[in-house]
Amino acid sequence: MNGKAVCWMEGKIIRGDEARVSVFDHGLLYGDGVFEGLRFYQRRVFRLSAHLERLFLSARAIALDIRQSAGQIRDAVEKTVAAFPDENGYLRLIVTRGVGSLGIDPRKCPEPSLLIIGDELAMVSPQARERGASVIIASTRQTASDVLDPRIKSLNYLNRIMAKIEANMAGADEALVLNSLGHVMEGTADNVFIVRNGRLLTPPVIEGALDGITRAVALELAHMAGIPAMESPLAPYDIYTADECFLTGTGAEMIPVRQVDGRLMTSCPGPVFTELSARFSALVMENGENEDLR
Ligand SMILES: Cc1ncc(COP(=O)(O)O)c(C=O)c1O
Repeated sequence: MNGKAVCWMEGKIIRGDEARVSVFDHGLLYGDGVFEGLRFYQRRVFRLSAHLERLFLSARAIALDIRQSAGQIRDAVEKTVAAFPDENGYLRLIVTRGVGSLGIDPRKCPEPSLLIIGDELAMVSPQARERGASVIIASTRQTASDVLDPRIKSLNYLNRIMAKIEANMAGADEALVLNSLGHVMEGTADNVFIVRNGRLLTPPVIEGALDGITRAVALELAHMAGIPAMESPLAPYDIYTADECFLTGTGAEMIPVRQVDGRLMTSCPGPVFTELSARFSALVMENGENEDLR
């Protein structure tokens, strides 16, 4: 939180540092809720429709009945963006099960709570973004897909936080997590790509990687740039011996990776990253969604 943060709650915009939720909100008590992270550039939200679609699917999967329509949420998003002091920023859209008495039964919560935070977000330092991030492979494994479907963007990020703590303790910028088969899945809140022999590879969604919106954009941009790109299972070996590695995400945007567990990438920022991140920067500026897309 900083002095710029704003929050949309119950139809009103308030200062971020004055926004409060109940101690009986089941989002706080049990992580019972879903969320999306979005970015706006020049006050236009990038891929808003895709984020709203994923939010409603996450909510359906946990039987959470969002009371607002997509159009009403768009309105609230626009009000939040308009209230933020800067042209560019980050939004966190959260829907919790709502306020109820203690005990996990969701029937205790008659009304879900929707709130939207507008703020800044920097996932890594400017130096790491420029020179390339230092990454470790965490020993904390991703929650297995047959335990909790990773397509549900829920409020419980504890295994990501455990992985981030490992990165912090190792003095690294970010951690990659493995699935139960030992395949590399993604970062703590971002997707991972490598480049090998001119081909762009990213872990398959079916194995448990989040179907990230920025990931999909990177694949589209690669296609437009004539760079062969595909999903492929990746072992730590593939990451250690890659020509390039980078991270994508709404929060992360695109971050080049310099080293993983002390193994240096062949180049950083490499030619494929440089090409795709230039296209990404241009796209986010020209391609935000505004009212006429409603
Ligand atoms: C676990 C995880 N993976 C990947 C991403 C990146 O997804 P997107 O590009 O849709 O923001 C996120 C973003 O929140 C995430 O939480």
